[in-house]
Amino acid sequence: MKKIILTSLTIFSISFGVIAQDITLPAPDKKGGKTLMQALSERQTTRSFTDETLSQQQLSDLLWAACGINRADQKKRTAPSAMNYQEIDVYVAMQSGLYLYIVENHSLKLIAGKDLRKTTGTQSYVNNAALNLVYVADMGKAGKKEGVKVNDSDLFMSYSDAAFIAQNVYLYCASANLGCVVRGSIPKEKLAVEMGLKSNQYIILAQTVGFAKK
Ligand SMILES: Cc1cc2nc3c(=O)[nH]c(=O)nc-3n(C[C@H](O)[C@H](O)[C@H](O)COP(=O)(O)O)c2cc1C
Repeated sequence: MKKIILTSLTIFSISFGVIAQDITLPAPDKKGGKTLMQALSERQTTRSFTDETLSQQQLSDLLWAACGINRADQKKRTAPSAMNYQEIDVYVAMQSGLYLYIVENHSLKLIAGKDLRKTTGTQSYVNNAALNLVYVADMGKAGKKEGVKVNDSDLFMSYSDAAFIAQNVYLYCASANLGCVVRGSIPKEKLAVEMGLKSNQYIILAQTVGFAKK
């Protein structure tokens, strides 16, 4: 009986997309897209989105463009990072849940199986766009353990590091005909609680990505 109930639950969950789990991303397509000059010409902010979701390939390409590894021998990335601390973690809030981009194996680790898109911002477009990226500085990676005071000057580099990632995302979106907006409007305290962040993890910026409403 227990087995029947469990099997039925599994079928129900898969059919209705209830079960959220880690996502293994396909390899990024590094040959696609527009030229750099075309992407720069078309880079712009979008604030009106449809609720269409990104394909796994688009998600893969987006995250690799953001801060994926581009020199495997040195574990270095598409975005520069002060002191090469690589302290900016990229979280992805989608309808299916909140994920952490694991750069090392280009995958998404499930953090919470709930839709936190609404909590990532204060503007209504965050609710239905395909996803919201949240850039979080893990100051532990910059030598600041929990309990150690972190000053604004400590975070200065993290704001710069996150901005480079955000610009990569802007350019990828322009190249892939997606819309995006980088955001400082974030209810940081509430979101940090929902994300389960530690005291030395700081939300820096967010970026909404999706299909622009025509
Ligand atoms: C650091 C930063 C924070 C921003 N915060 C927001 C925001 O919270 N909400 C928003 O709608 N746009 C935000 N923007 C987008 C700007 O308003 C936008 O880049 C500007 O209007 C210029 O438009 P463009 O990106 O199309 O050139 C932000 C941009 C930057 C660089």
